Amino acid sequence: MTGRVFVIGGPNLGRLGKRQPEIYGDTSWSELESLCRGWAADLGLELEFLQSDLEGELVRMIHGAGDGAEGLILNAAAYTHTSVAIRDAVAAVDIPVVEIHLTNPDARESFRRKNLLADVVTAGIRGFGIDGYRLALVGIAALLRAGHAGNGKINPG
Ligand code: DQA
Repeated sequence: MTGRVFVIGGPNLGRLGKRQPEIYGDTSWSELESLCRGWAADLGLELEFLQSDLEGELVRMIHGAGDGAEGLILNAAAYTHTSVAIRDAVAAVDIPVVEIHLTNPDARESFRRKNLLADVVTAGIRGFGIDGYRLALVGIAALLRAGHAGNGKINPG
């Protein structure tokens, strides 16, 4: 086990901290990176922390995770609700993928209830804010320790 995990953020997450802080909080993307690096180190994981506003770039990053990592934590942001290309990229990689959202999209505008990723990811975390990333890292570390390879669903214990 290499413990290498990619954290990928989609459009507008680079503006975290400045962007609608009443919804997304005041932690910046680079502060989130530092927090994640600390949590990952405690869990014995090695992180690649990436963000892009561009759909095609995100597709390539997801492929990169599939080729070079054992797990992926993905906040596809608005593309969650619109992008067949990102859905197909997730379905095309054979590693566990945890979908994460800071907010709970189902409790917001109705257009956020459409989710093109939910049935191609391994698991999901939503609505815990920044702490959701810690939970996602704990979840991925547990999956990897249990020898869960591939983007299959977890067998309920
Ligand atoms: C988000 C939720 C999405 O609906 C939204 O488009 C985002 C952020 C979240 O983390 O809560 O940009 O993914």
